[in-house]
This record gives sequence, C-alpha cells and structure tokens, in this order.
Amino acid sequence: MTQSSRDRAPADDAGRGRPGRRVPPRDVAAAEELLSSGRLSVEGRLVQASNATLYCSVDLDGLTGACVYKPVAGERPLWDFPDGTLAEREVAAYEVSKAMGWGTVPPTVHRDGPYGPGMVQLWVEPDPDIDLVALSRSDDDAIRRMAVFDAVVNNADRKIGHLLPPGDGHVYGCDHGVCFSVDYKLRTVLWQWRGKPLTSEALEALGRVDEGIRGGALGARLTELLTADEVDATRRRVELMLKHRIHPYPPEDWPAIPWPPL
Ligand SMILES: Nc1ncnc2c1ncn2[C@@H]1O[C@H](COP(=O)(O)OP(=O)(O)O)[C@@H](O)[C@H]1O
Ligand SMILES: [Mg+2]
Repeated sequence: MTQSSRDRAPADDAGRGRPGRRVPPRDVAAAEELLSSGRLSVEGRLVQASNATLYCSVDLDGLTGACVYKPVAGERPLWDFPDGTLAEREVAAYEVSKAMGWGTVPPTVHRDGPYGPGMVQLWVEPDPDIDLVALSRSDDDAIRRMAVFDAVVNNADRKIGHLLPPGDGHVYGCDHGVCFSVDYKLRTVLWQWRGKPLTSEALEALGRVDEGIRGGALGARLTELLTADEVDATRRRVELMLKHRIHPYPPEDWPAIPWPPL
C-alpha cells in the first residue's frame, strides 16, 4: 500500500466514543472474543486494497475496537492459490504466529459478517512518525522475527506497507492471504538476514511450531484451514530451518521482492 492510500485509510477511530473498553492487540483473549462475537459495523472500504477489504467497528458487552473484515465473497481468484480461501490463509498465519509466541499477526478470526464469512482482524494503528522504509531495512529484532515468521508461512507478499509498528517497539504484520503455497514463494522486502544464523529465540519458536504441527493443536487447526499438502509443506519448511539453522536464501525461479515494494 502506498503512503497516499495510507493517508486516505481511516484513522483508528471506528467505535471511538462508543461505550466500552478499547481492546489492545496484545490482549489476545479479549480481542479474540470481541472479534468472534462482537457486532460488526462496516465503516468504509480501504482504498487501493486488491480485494474487498473493509474497515469496521466491533462492539461486545463493554469491549470495543476497530478491525479489518475481508469477506470471502470479495476475493479475486488467484492462479497460484487455487485451493481454499485467502481468509482461511490469513487465519492460518495467525495460528502460526500464536504458536511462535511473538505476536507477529494481530488477533484474527474467521466468522460470518455483513457480506458473509470472512476474516476479521483487529486494527493496529501504526505510529505515523516511524519511517517504514528505514524500519524495513533495519536490523530491528521485531523485523528479524517477522522474517522468520514469513519463512515459516512462505509469505509471497511481505511489502513495506504490511508492517504495522504501533510505536511501542513491537511490529505487527498484515495481509497474509498469499501464504502457505507448497512451492517456495517467499517474496519479501526483508532479506537482510539471508544465510545468517538463526537466533536461539528463533530456533525455540521454530521448535514450538514443529511440535505443534506434528502432534499438537496447531496441526489440527491448520488442517481445518489449509490443504494437507500445505500443512505438510509448512512442517518441511520448519524442519529445513531447524536442520540448517540459517535464514533462507531468496528463491531463484520467483521474484524475491514484491512489486511495488510499498
Ligand atoms: N489489521 C490491520 N491494522 C491496521 N492496518 C491494516 C490492517 N490490515 C490491513 N491494514 C491496512 O490496510 C491495507 C490494505 O490491507 P491488506 O491486508 O494489505 O489488503 P489487500 O489484501 O487488499 O492488499 C494494508 O496495507 C494496511 O495499511
Ligand atoms: Mg496488501
């Protein structure tokens, strides 16, 4: 997303002035409850989004917030992601993020909404004073974690505009509809650690995903959201990283940087 469309995107004011506690993204349990069961009111459409991406307020018994709602009905078919839905991939990415334990993806659920089933994700207001281009090129720890997360989910679209730093040191990422291909399609602006050793915290997070996919709840949940081959390919990507203990190199047969990178 370009800076100009970000300017035109709504500020995080959906629901502001409504009664209720505003749920921050780090309050995962409350956010999941709000997003799953709250009343969704569409406030606008995000301009320049490639699919129907709606900005909404959401309210539930004393809790309130803003969110993004992407109905399945608004998805454009993609030749390289013929199975499942983008909404399910977004939720699968959230489940992986939860298993890794770094809170890379804002709370995200799959639910029914005014335009049918889709994904609903808590809105994270980025700090407008943070230079996203500089952040994307930095050696920031949160960005490094995101690079590991992207390698696990095989993110084919990590643009600069998909980085959401609220200003407290954390960096959230959004737009994970084109993840989990069985082919290696990592396409990202975050290549600065390619071939470098994974940190010990990354190896621990990968270990949690490995365990979760092999016999834990993560494998069962991903199987509901992705094809069996995609879940298996995710397990193999994690296995490969645990074996070689390095950040992956760019693919040779696929553009390694999204265009436009913003
Ligand atoms: N959870 C979120 N919090 C804050 N901003 C978001 C969130 N999700 C999306 N956005 C903003 O909306 C833009 C469009 O959403 P995105 O998920 O990239 O849609 P699309 O799939 O159509 O590209 C993003 O680039 C980002 O600026
Ligand atoms: Mg996008």
